[in-house]
Amino acid sequence: MQRLLNLGAKAISLAPLQQPSTWLCGRANIRKASTYKAAVLREFGQDLQIEDIKRKKLQGNQVRVGVHSCGVNASDVLMIENKYDKKFNPPFVPGFEVCGEVLEMGKEVTTMAVGSKVIGIIKEGLGGYAEECIVSEQDLWTVDHAVSFDSGAALVDTYATALIGLNRRAAVNEESTVLVTAAAGGLGLAAVDLATSVYKAKVIGVCGTEDKAGLVRQKGAWAALKYNKKHIDAKVNEVTDGKGVNVVFDAIGGDTFVDCLSWVCHEGTVVVAGFASRVIPHIETSILLPKAVSLVGLSLSHYQQANNAVYRQVVEDVIDMHEMSLINPHISARFNIEQTAEALDFLRQRKSTGKVILELR
Ligand SMILES: NC(=O)c1ccc[n+]([C@@H]2O[C@H](COP(=O)([O-])OP(=O)(O)OC[C@H]3O[C@@H](n4cnc5c(N)ncnc54)[C@H](OP(=O)(O)O)[C@@H]3O)[C@@H](O)[C@H]2O)c1
Repeated sequence: MQRLLNLGAKAISLAPLQQPSTWLCGRANIRKASTYKAAVLREFGQDLQIEDIKRKKLQGNQVRVGVHSCGVNASDVLMIENKYDKKFNPPFVPGFEVCGEVLEMGKEVTTMAVGSKVIGIIKEGLGGYAEECIVSEQDLWTVDHAVSFDSGAALVDTYATALIGLNRRAAVNEESTVLVTAAAGGLGLAAVDLATSVYKAKVIGVCGTEDKAGLVRQKGAWAALKYNKKHIDAKVNEVTDGKGVNVVFDAIGGDTFVDCLSWVCHEGTVVVAGFASRVIPHIETSILLPKAVSLVGLSLSHYQQANNAVYRQVVEDVIDMHEMSLINPHISARFNIEQTAEALDFLRQRKSTGKVILELR
């Protein structure tokens, strides 16, 4: 693993320029059209409208991406409901995790070519629920044509977050025991996949149903069980000889977070990765003292701002690991643009496992 993380192998300037696909033979025609289809939120509380949007001119460092697939994320739901910590004012087109092909580039763009397959993370401007979107070069990564558009759109946000949490912040290795909450969700399943497939750690996954637990076991978890404090206490004791797990990776928050503190071992680490429960827990910090627990918070978007080199590298690493078939995002449902409301409801109702994808082309 060390080799991968130190490689910096596909530094963006070294990425091979890829050949335009046959799809792009019609590029001239596509570019003549001045509009494209998008799902637009006009007002908070209303459904997204499918509209024809006028194409904007590119700035020098921008790339026009023909979006084939876009991840539908828990954060999208929060943004659409005006409950996300960063505010987006309607009208806007949601969606920040895209995979597609380069249609057009600004004059300053040097690291890709028309036709390159790319993954983009566009948390600043959004716009992914659309047939095309504009992305800064620095928020794009080229990816091998063998990677499917759906996998490309399902890969980066969750796996890069999990990789920073597990590897950079919690130093998980093959000796580690790791408990993952919301283990069948997008972020949780990525954490399970990385911890087991890449770091060979012993993982306990916790999730909502027996079916979901089956999927978490299939992804490589040593054990997976439904939320039940007593049962989880017993499993943690059994797997760790009563010591507690080295690392807890929590994406639920609320009361579950408080339970997480009881499952971690002496000098263990709890990674605060998300709040699927929408409840941000408040604790007395004295609770951390008896077991010398480290609490680690992380947000991928803040890494983009605070340490862009790590952000770029971690996404490169995730793409490399996927191209080497070490990790593979699970996709539970695919929807088209007309079904955007259904896709969001699927997520809201906790029916999804792994990722949900909107297919735009
Ligand atoms: N730190 C970061 O940079 C980062 C990156 C990505 C995501 N996140 C955050 O991490 C959290 C999970 O994201 P995700 O992509 O895994 O979402 P997801 O795919 O929707 O999965 C979340 C899972 O959480 C579980 N859950 C437990 N209690 C819940 C509740 N009260 N309401 C809804 N779900 C509940 C559900 O699984 P069960 O039915 O099995 O309980 C659900 O499937 C979100 O808060 C998201 O914003 C943070």
